[in-house]
Amino acid sequence: MSVLSGKKILLGITAGIAAYKTANLVRLFIKLDADVKVIMTPASKDFITPLTLSTLSKNPVHSTFYDKEDENELWNNHVDLGLWADYFLVAPATANTLSKMANGVCDNLLLATYLSAKCPVYFAPAMDLDMYKHPSTKASLHKLQSFGNSIIPATSGELASGLIGEGRMAEPEDIVSFIEKDILSKLPLKGKKVLITAGPTYEAIDPVRFIGNHSSGKMGFALANEAANLGAEVFLISGPSQQQIKNSLVHRINVVSADEMYNVTHLYFKDVDIAILSAAVADYKPKNIANQKIKKDSSSLTMQLEPTKDILASLGLIKEKQFLVGFALETNNEIENAKSKIKRKNLDAIVLNSLQDKGAGFATNTNKITIIDKNLNEKPFELKSKTEVAKDIINEIISKLDA
Ligand code: CTP
Repeated sequence: MSVLSGKKILLGITAGIAAYKTANLVRLFIKLDADVKVIMTPASKDFITPLTLSTLSKNPVHSTFYDKEDENELWNNHVDLGLWADYFLVAPATANTLSKMANGVCDNLLLATYLSAKCPVYFAPAMDLDMYKHPSTKASLHKLQSFGNSIIPATSGELASGLIGEGRMAEPEDIVSFIEKDILSKLPLKGKKVLITAGPTYEAIDPVRFIGNHSSGKMGFALANEAANLGAEVFLISGPSQQQIKNSLVHRINVVSADEMYNVTHLYFKDVDIAILSAAVADYKPKNIANQKIKKDSSSLTMQLEPTKDILASLGLIKEKQFLVGFALETNNEIENAKSKIKRKNLDAIVLNSLQDKGAGFATNTNKITIIDKNLNEKPFELKSKTEVAKDIINEIISKLDA
């Protein structure tokens, strides 16, 4: 899966002959499952029609702040467009637009949107060789880079003028792979290995029965997805769960019982940088598992239970470089209990869910958490979807890794 999958890409097209290649560029982004919106400078419409681009991008194409001909036309809000984008690409970027953007000129919709954008911006310059070599163009590119933008270098070859030299816009395939590589190289968890436990455990009573709990695994799977989206290689050790995950960076290892989860977790722990234990591990298991199905009779049945091994605490005892995060599901004295777990289990942070909060905990799509760090600082969060909560947790861990 591409890092651009599901991402919102704003493509700014300026008036260069290479604009004809943007039809292919839009197709490539769409094929990668990205959402594409196009802004054209008015003059670029001489090189490729808005209809081609709106058809390929499946979105209206904007080029002016509003359409004078159309009374019902809405104001094209450059701030909204700028904030909408996850990535902004200007291709082809002419010497004129590069110079205007480098100097904060904003006399068309594309330029104004650039000034409003908060996302990473890429420029794929395209112009004749002498224009590309000109000190003023070099200065514009240099200035734009110094603002944190990325330049996708022009290539050498035959130019529209018939001259041969540097100034050709990079090919659409190369532009896409430049952006993908750039995003990957900047992901905050690139090169990190993350272990996550998720879901419930089932403790066998006999061949057909078990002691389990209502954990769905949603929180752990959302964490795995988010860590992988940020570049980590993830080992997701999951108890029985209906959740699915499709991410080439996530290795799912299925387990059933607490003992199995303990063994597999210890197998991976020594090689990881971060471990997040979100599984709802059974605290007790039957002391003896019946070989045959237990038959009912009229008398009551007593079963002896023994404690399972505490996986989190066992990792706290052996951890070296690993950033170890536990979960605490509490019903009363939440903060005090969670803080005492941090100390007892030698954690770097704990994620507290209180069952007193509506929408928090098991089998819901939402969660409300407080993250407490090892210095016992508390950070409460609003009720959010588990996907959003996973983002908060992973971001918090990243901020602590750097601290
Ligand atoms: N945990 C674990 N192994 C166990 C039990 C729990 O790794 N056998 C982990 C959970 O994944 C979670 C954390 O420990 O990250 C807290 O679990 P919880 O049941 O809330 O806490 P306990 O330590 O079991 O304490 P108590 O039941 O008394 O609240």
